[in-house]
Amino acid sequence: MQIHEIDSLKRQAAEAAVAHVESGMIVGLGAGSTALKALECIAERLAMGTLTGILGVPCSDQVAADARRLAVPLTTLECHPRIDLTVDGADEVDPQLRVIKGGGGALLREKIVAQASKREIIIVDERKLSARLGEKWALPVEALSFGLRAHVEYIERLGAAVEVRTRADGSPFRTDSGNLILDCQFGPMEDPERIAGALERRAGVVEHGLFLDLVTDLIVASPAGTQHRSR
Ligand code: A5P
Repeated sequence: MQIHEIDSLKRQAAEAAVAHVESGMIVGLGAGSTALKALECIAERLAMGTLTGILGVPCSDQVAADARRLAVPLTTLECHPRIDLTVDGADEVDPQLRVIKGGGGALLREKIVAQASKREIIIVDERKLSARLGEKWALPVEALSFGLRAHVEYIERLGAAVEVRTRADGSPFRTDSGNLILDCQFGPMEDPERIAGALERRAGVVEHGLFLDLVTDLIVASPAGTQHRSR
């Protein structure tokens, strides 16, 4: 698929999700290129006056900057701890609406925002669908730099090949919270809950990109149209 076709699918999924945003809502603003399309749709609806009085909770510093540029008003979880609806992207989605997130490194804030949301709408193009999580994507894990070697070896013992994410200049990638991202290649996961549990038990692992029971809605755009599934 060409880049402009993928872009147009992302836009279709974003429009379908933003149709669920209502005036006065607190809206979680996800990170990544697909979620950015949703932010642009929200900005357009605000500019047209078909949407009013919404406040966004950004999932990353980059999203906050994009929202300011697009004149989408922002708030924080401190002011509004309950979010009506979040629109976010994902890296991989399985048939049970379980997803891998964190390709952009924003998984910690994305999960905090998802857990605070009444509805978590994930928008993807069809390339993100997998029979099993891990088939196409390494699992991003946010970890403290203290004890790095020990975290890496622990995750390797769980069965993954682990790489510390770097920037283009070779320096370590740092999240908005100043932590590292470990890209953990598990391959197709038979039991993502087991992997999630093992990661959650480990000190030094801040969070992982498995969102196993947080997604309420999935919108998938394909050349044949847009499909919406709810849980
Ligand atoms: C950000 O950390 C991620 O969870 C993104 O939502 C995810 O990587 C999807 O990004 P794209 O929409 O750019 O593919």
